[in-house]
Amino acid sequence: MKSPLYSNSYIYTLGLILLHKGTFFRRYRHMAAYVHDNESVLEPGCGPAIFAKFLPKSVAYRGFDANGSFIDHAAQKGLNVVLGNALDPASYSPADVVMLCDVLHHLPPSERQKCIAFCWQAAKRLLIICEEGRPDSSAGGPFYWINKKWCEFIEKDGTNNPKFEEVWTKGALREYMEKGFDVVPSSTQNKIKEVGEDLIITYSKGRW
Ligand SMILES: C[S@@+](CC[C@H](N)C(=O)[O-])C[C@H]1O[C@@H](n2cnc3c(N)ncnc32)[C@H](O)[C@@H]1O
Repeated sequence: MKSPLYSNSYIYTLGLILLHKGTFFRRYRHMAAYVHDNESVLEPGCGPAIFAKFLPKSVAYRGFDANGSFIDHAAQKGLNVVLGNALDPASYSPADVVMLCDVLHHLPPSERQKCIAFCWQAAKRLLIICEEGRPDSSAGGPFYWINKKWCEFIEKDGTNNPKFEEVWTKGALREYMEKGFDVVPSSTQNKIKEVGEDLIITYSKGRW
């Protein structure tokens, strides 16, 4: 059972614009600015491949996702996307930039590092990870129950069983990002940026 957000690409994109407001455009523009002309980009969990539209024409974009409806829609628009599983190494192929946006909280906590490891391995130059954490104070707040029910309803993508408690808090997310989720070596250069409710970290393998 999927939430309406994951049933159709138009509903998903409109929903994201309404939920993120101005941040929707700012976060994709921020990430796209790291990609150079003529590079390759891989997006695991690409959804309807919104990011592709923010990239220069010379960039070779590839994406994969578990949602067949998103993939069919993006493929019909001429985008290079296929069905794939972020937890299966066979879905990955090397790219200059690997970009993972809003995917980690869809995975069980015990599988997240595996996904990050596959992304890091596939990235030739940069790995960009964008995630939204839940408020640090959400555990006991008056809106806790509403937030929990809303999150667990809206984040059902058809493959997962989301639990609000399993979404990292903003503080925990920043901490994990800064230590490379215990996957990216601690000596790796990184840049972290808060864009609205999102935290975006970019890890570099040497060249920015
Ligand atoms: C919030 S959407 C993000 C989509 C896209 N990255 C974006 O920025 O709009 C999360 C996506 O992750 C996909 N997903 C979740 N688990 C996955 C898995 N194991 N393998 C591939 N895709 C997965 C879902 O189908 C969904 O399209």
